[in-house]
Parts: sequence; structure tokens; C-alpha cells
Amino acid sequence: MSQSKVGLVGLAVMGQNLALNIAEKGFPISVWNRSPGKVDTTVERAKNEGNLPLTGYHELEDFIGSLERPRRIIMLVKAGKPVDATIDRLVPLLEPGDLIVDGGNEWYPNTERRAKAVGEKGIMYMGMGVSGGEEGARNGPSMMPGGPIEAWQMLQPIVAHVAAQVDDGPCVVHIGPGGSGNYVKMVHNGIEYGDMQLIAEAYDILKTVGGLTNEELHQVFDTWNKGELESFLVEITAQIFAKKDDEGQDGHLVDYILDKTGMKGTGRWTVMEAADNSVAAPTMAAALDARFLSGLKEERVAAAPHFKGPDVVTGVDKAQLIDDVRQALYASKICSYAQGMNLIRAASNDPEHNWGLDLGSIARIWKGGCIIRAAFLDRIKQAYDRDANLPNLMIDGEFAKELNERQPAWRRVVGLAVASGIAVPGFSGSLAYFDQYRRARLPANLVQAQRDFFGRHTFKRTDKEGTFSAMWEE
Ligand code: 6PG
Repeated sequence: MSQSKVGLVGLAVMGQNLALNIAEKGFPISVWNRSPGKVDTTVERAKNEGNLPLTGYHELEDFIGSLERPRRIIMLVKAGKPVDATIDRLVPLLEPGDLIVDGGNEWYPNTERRAKAVGEKGIMYMGMGVSGGEEGARNGPSMMPGGPIEAWQMLQPIVAHVAAQVDDGPCVVHIGPGGSGNYVKMVHNGIEYGDMQLIAEAYDILKTVGGLTNEELHQVFDTWNKGELESFLVEITAQIFAKKDDEGQDGHLVDYILDKTGMKGTGRWTVMEAADNSVAAPTMAAALDARFLSGLKEERVAAAPHFKGPDVVTGVDKAQLIDDVRQALYASKICSYAQGMNLIRAASNDPEHNWGLDLGSIARIWKGGCIIRAAFLDRIKQAYDRDANLPNLMIDGEFAKELNERQPAWRRVVGLAVASGIAVPGFSGSLAYFDQYRRARLPANLVQAQRDFFGRHTFKRTDKEGTFSAMWEE
């Protein structure tokens, strides 16, 4: 019997679909899962979806024995302990030169720890972020593998075909060494949280101030998706507004969904990392806080009668509002991506990592397949191609021009929202990020004075070199 090119362990939604995708691209694949039922389902699907070259195994030993050497095994099991447990079962059956790839959303230090542990046995290890949900996994995800270059050389011939394909190649690249693949996927998810929050704020303003119906919102997002905001998340948002309730109620499903956002936590890691690296990430942090506050549904319902918010501003020109919100959304998005990219760079430059990550190629592989895929990522790639050391995406000539042009609309939207009592932490946090970055002088002089006043923390002066401390109280 001929041997499989690759093996995949863990046949939940992502694993199953990725395995079928790999098989469809012409790579004979073996699959194994802890509970055998999923193996049989996957085999059945492979048969029904075009007699794909996929073989299922109930015994791990048989699975390992079916793989071409050196072996390539992709794991798609729940991050954390289940990954450790799977490695513990795999490793005794493997040989030096074999490769294990974790395709889950893993906390990057876990990947580095595991790479070290299995590396002692000569086994190679990679952490590979995979984005695109079920559909992406099946038809072409964006993939972010990190780990040793030799491991990448083993993986590349397969993933280059399995990943989404865009005008300038497959949406996969060797991200860098260590846990950098997981790291970049983590930041992708932080950006994903930011994008989703910004879109939700746009919805809130258009609905609450503009009085737009779901049909109108569908139209607006559909139109936006044909312009500079073209992206997967804007596209699905348009579709969401068109979806009628599926439980027999009048109207649209979106109006019956409880306003409480769940999460698995990668966005939280991003904000924790931003703080750890002293990188300002207000848009992503706003998105995370908004999820926390949304979670307090019962508390919010109980609090509502205690407060009286302002009346919503009336008499707004609807067409103007829609256009303003589009511009505010786009400008805020630039800020959010600038934060994400700067976090990736900070982590890359951390002397403990020294990952040497290339921001342009990271933007490139997000152009297709992943949840944040958007036309605008090509422009981000071009900005880093023009200047790989761009200190902030906002000051790239093209993005700076766009931010300048959108400022009046952006400020009108934030002002209108604040006056109407509508929270827009993503829009306003992004605008504050822009305003702080743009202003040559900030009120930080006063904070320094206070620090020196109560703690002799010292300060620098604008007019001469040196470190100073003052006798603040005569
Ligand atoms: C992707 C997504 C995915 C993530 C979900 C849910 O890139 O395909 O980022 O990996 O798990 O979006 O994330 P939350 O449950 O944290 O919202």
C-alpha cells in the first residue's frame, strides 16, 4: 500500500475540513481522531466529496505506520492540555526528522516549550495559525506557520497548495522561528476583534441615529463591500442584515440575537501582549472591553432605569451620515491595523525572540482565506514594501493622506455618537490614538511633573540635556 504524504490528527470542524482540503489538492492523507466516530465521518465525506485520497485509522499505530518518512503530522486539537496529551501519544511512535505541526490557536510560549521538548528527541515542531473558519479550512485558509526553517521546507510543498491563493501567491509564508506563527495568528485575532467592534459601532450609529432599517443596512454594507471597505467581515455583515428569522418570528434574525458576545480568548492575549510590549492598542482593547461589558447583560438591564442618557440627535441627513460612518470606519481600521502591526514588530524585535518578521509578507498572506481578509491589506503590504521600517502605518504617505481626508467625517461621527449617548469605543479610541500620535506635544509634561512631585521620579527638559528633579513645595 502506498504511503500517505501527510497525517492529520483531530477531526473536529477545522481538522476535518483541512484534511479534505489537503486530499483534494492531491496529497494522500491519513487521519486519526481520539474518538473513532469522527474518523468514519471524515472518510465518508472524502468519499462523497469526490473520492478524495483520504484514509482513516482507528489505531494510532496504524496511522503512524501509514505515513511516508520523514513523517509530517498536522494536529488540530483543542489548545492547551489536549495538545500536550496528543504529543505524549505521538512522540513514542515517531523518529528523528519527523515533524509535528500544531494548527490550533495556541499560546505561543506553549509552542516554544513543546518544540524544545520534542526537539530533544530530534523531532521538529511548528505552531501554525490557521484562519478562515470552516469554509476557509475546506477551500483555502490563510496559514501562519512558525518554527525551524527545515520544518518549513518539509511543510511548504503541501501548504502552498492548500492555502488560499491570491494574485501574488498562496496565503502562507514561513512566518519566522519559534512561536512566531502562533503570535501572528494571535494578533490577527486581535485585529479581527477590532474590525468586528468597529463594524458593530457603525451599525449602532446608523440604526440608532440614522434610523436605518435592516434592509437599508443590508444595502449600505453591500455597497461598502464594493469600495475601499471590501472585506469578508463587511460582506457577511451585509448578509446578516438580509437574514429573516428562522424560528418563525417576524423580521430579521439579527434582532432576536442576545447582545452578549462570547469569546475563546485570543483577543485577550493580544491585549495582554500589547501591554507587555508597551504597544498602544486602544482599538483592540476597546473591542475586548466591549465584549466584557456586553457579557454583563443582566447587570446592564438592571442598571438601565437608574440613568437617563441624552436624547439621540435628530434631523441628521441620512446620506451624509452613511458616508461619514463609512469614512470613520475606514480611518479607524487604519489605526487598528497600525496597532496590530506595531505589536508584531515589537515582539519580533524583542531580544528574547529576534524573530525577524516581515510585516509586508504578513499583510500579504492576510489578503485571502482569513477572517480579516480585505482589499485594503494589499495596500498595507505595499506600504511596508515602500518602507519596511515604517514606524507606524499611519505615516505612510498614502495612509496619511487618507486619514487627513477622512478626519472631518470621523470627528463628526464620534461627536454625534457621544452627543447621542452611543458608546463608540472603537471609533473614538482609534481617533484618540491618531490624535495622540499626530500631536507633537502632549500633556505628558504634566504627568511627569506629578510623578516628580510625589515620587521624585525625575523628568527631562525641552530646553537642555540632563535629568532633573524639582523642589515642588517651597
Ligand atoms: C479565524 C478565527 C478563529 C477564532 C474565532 C473565534 O481566524 O478563523 O480567528 O480562529 O477562533 O474567530 O474567536 P473568539 O471566540 O475569540 O471570538
